[in-house]
Amino acid sequence: MTTPSSAALREAIQAGYPDHADAVRLYGPEIYADPAGLYEEIRRKHGPIAPVLLDDDIPAWFVVGYRELHHVTSQTQLFGRDSRRWNMKDFVRPDWPLLPYVGWQPTVLFTEGAERQRRTGALNDALDALDRTELTAVCEQVADLLIDDFCGDGEADLIRQYAYPLPAHVMVRLFGLPEADLPDVVRDVTLSADMTEESGPAYARLRERVSRLVTEKQARPGDDLPSRLLAHSARLTDEEAVLDIQVLVAGAHGPTANWIGNTLRLMLMDDDFSITLQGGRSSVGQALNEVLWKDPPLQNAPGRWAVQDCELAGRRIRRGDMLVLGIAAANADPQVQPAAYPDSGANRAHMSFSHGEYGCPFPAPELGELIAKTAVEVLLDRLPDVDLGVAPEEVRWRQSLWMRSLEALPVRFSPTAPMGQEAVWSGPR
Ligand code: HEM
Repeated sequence: MTTPSSAALREAIQAGYPDHADAVRLYGPEIYADPAGLYEEIRRKHGPIAPVLLDDDIPAWFVVGYRELHHVTSQTQLFGRDSRRWNMKDFVRPDWPLLPYVGWQPTVLFTEGAERQRRTGALNDALDALDRTELTAVCEQVADLLIDDFCGDGEADLIRQYAYPLPAHVMVRLFGLPEADLPDVVRDVTLSADMTEESGPAYARLRERVSRLVTEKQARPGDDLPSRLLAHSARLTDEEAVLDIQVLVAGAHGPTANWIGNTLRLMLMDDDFSITLQGGRSSVGQALNEVLWKDPPLQNAPGRWAVQDCELAGRRIRRGDMLVLGIAAANADPQVQPAAYPDSGANRAHMSFSHGEYGCPFPAPELGELIAKTAVEVLLDRLPDVDLGVAPEEVRWRQSLWMRSLEALPVRFSPTAPMGQEAVWSGPR
């Protein structure tokens, strides 16, 4: 496949995207310095639906208004998930960095209508059947195992050694994988969420393992998530089951890991949530919610595609235009701010799980919260004097347009003895 020249791209933009003459570039190292400030500036200059340029100057619309984001995610007949209707798809090179997120694949993510209901219906039911008490027990056990691994050291990186491996462990256990496979699968789940050169190979290994898992569960069903998915009345084909299980793993792992990491950061760095103070534990729920408002684990989501020409907040959107969901920006919209701040503790009207038929599937936010809350609480119980191990300004965010995640969260604490459970996995070193 040959990619059109940049002259052809410029022509296509001039013809089809007249508003994009002064569009903001949503790529390059400078956008990562202060994302909240950048979103605010974009809103001030361009309003709630902003013309932006993605990598290689590919045009898109950035939905930064709260009301507009609600509208776009609710109106599935106007804004769809099938990216095959994208009017810029012939202008992107085969190795365009955002292609893994927006290029059409036969997974549940890109389905619509009756097919969407069949596929998400199966996922929702399989997730909803999870016993919450059992899930809490699994999370506690995994948390204790991971802490056992570093509690004698007096220091740790809570991202690499805790927030990232924890939900990966929980997921693979829910999937009924043999104990012997845990280390490899946990490593690949963690690596594939990492957006490094190791992510692609890890993702491929994971696909191969999930494929074998589906064959195994077809032959010998168990009391686990894949078996429930395969037995569902939606009658998923094996290929659909493999693809959607992998969507489930990726959908659960990265956002939940970031939620844990961002909450621990807030509790360690913000005096209002200081975890070393008595009563800190009771503020865990509040800190989790504050993170959803201020540092949502998925700060932007790649999208929706306009089903037909329409107008949105005074912008002319053409059929096939791509819209990027500005989740963090919408949460910070001054129109909802008075309700959100300063005490966002009880207000759950953020857009951090997105919204509507294509949003995070209905039992998932509750399950993600259960995992994240248990992870933070167990850490506070086990390491009550945990404190930041570096100066606050050395705690850095990763450079990603989509994920809001930390590079590392180094901490110090008084060394303690492991609880001595049987160690089934000992994280990447
Ligand atoms: C057990 C944990 C979780 C599971 C199993 C899960 C699963 C999923 C799945 C399967 C999707 C794809 C939805 C679709 O297009 O059909 C999705 C989307 C999404 N999830 Fe989750 N998720 C989890 C946790 C989270 C967390 C913790 C967050 C953030 C706080 C989150 C935020 C989102 C967002 C923003 C989307 C994109 C929706 C859109 O495009 O509108 N998820 N999730």
